[in-house]
Amino acid sequence: MTSTRGLEGVVATQSSISSIIDDTLTYVGYNIDELADNASFEEVIYLLWHKRLPKMDELTELKQQLTANMSLPQEFLNHFKTYPIDKVHPMSALRSAVSLLGLYDDKSEDMSDEANYAKAINLQAKIATIVTAFARVRKGLEPVAPRADLGYAANFLYMLSGKEPEEIEIEAFDKALVLHADHELNASTFTARVCVATLSDMYSGVTSAIGALKGPLHGGANEQVMKMLSEIGSEENAEAYIQEKLANKEKIMGFGHRVYRQGDPRAKHLREMSKQLTKLRGEEKWYNMSIRVEAAFTAQKNLPPNVDFYSASVYHSLGIEHDLFTPIFAVSRVSGWIAHILEQYENNRLIRPRAEYTGPGMQKYIPIEDR
Ligand code: ACO
Repeated sequence: MTSTRGLEGVVATQSSISSIIDDTLTYVGYNIDELADNASFEEVIYLLWHKRLPKMDELTELKQQLTANMSLPQEFLNHFKTYPIDKVHPMSALRSAVSLLGLYDDKSEDMSDEANYAKAINLQAKIATIVTAFARVRKGLEPVAPRADLGYAANFLYMLSGKEPEEIEIEAFDKALVLHADHELNASTFTARVCVATLSDMYSGVTSAIGALKGPLHGGANEQVMKMLSEIGSEENAEAYIQEKLANKEKIMGFGHRVYRQGDPRAKHLREMSKQLTKLRGEEKWYNMSIRVEAAFTAQKNLPPNVDFYSASVYHSLGIEHDLFTPIFAVSRVSGWIAHILEQYENNRLIRPRAEYTGPGMQKYIPIEDR
């Protein structure tokens, strides 16, 4: 029995949700470029969950279900205040809060299709409120209630800042949510599927996935990119910074990918958004610095930027705090996790691979007094 490090190249399941073929990403057969330019995040949620685009009345109904379920119970909000709030990373708070959400759902153990759909709506709706409410509570601010007249992206930005967002901000954020919604069998999606393949509930699957997304080799990279850009400080420092990191054999966050070779098709959309938004804010230095980092890095390593690289300057330009970047990734990706959880339930088999044993051969037990 031989193992493959990091399961590289292993095809672990069949799925009809998203595909990466020849560096092209599709959701249910629709090219991500077309979806990024045309679809709203709610349309993409519907597409991932139902494996077809919604009709107008279906989209309206989904939007209503999401806004109607965004509010969090007061006990839940009080719970945040019991966290050691100044020390907690928002991804850890989110992981705990999503787990807690399961405790407040009396159907959490009900595995019927109806109950699972209700859980899907509950999770997708409330994850936006959890992230924004936590971001406010930790600063001593009251959470802002969602508004029925705003869409998902607009509601997120509104609940975060308490101010009605500008149209360009809503458009950019909505596009970022579309781009992050699903990505074949990435580490967090695989985690979710492994969890629910034991026939565990959806809250457990999503909680596990959040834990996997948090790491800097996966979703946590976007926060690290902003940390790097802040350290670099100005455009002219970019080359020297990258040279030094590479000389020290350090990884540069936001570059490289297990699957893509020529490049991540999502990155070009985020690069363009970064260019526009940083210009609008009069903070072009973040975009210019990112371009210099990309040039310096790719001159040495043939590894193009991934989705996390330009999303950092996009979220920064939207005035979002840097440690909320990965929770925002989760707000979008939960749509994909749910689609995969539902697909796993439909045709389930326990996921239980083997390990290639590399420890000592058979040993004789030695009593503790003789060791
Ligand atoms: N910076 C510098 N070197 C890199 C980078 C990078 N970002 N990525 C890969 N390499 C190098 C490795 O050092 C390694 O070199 P070696 O063969 O000389 O030892 C080689 O490329 C292969 O790297 P692995 O880490 O083995 O590649 P793997 O497919 O396992 O990892 C990963 C992919 C985790 C994305 C990796 O490219 C990486 O760590 N990137 C930085 C973190 C990041 O941006 N993660 C987000 C990915 S996208 C997402 O999850 C949303």
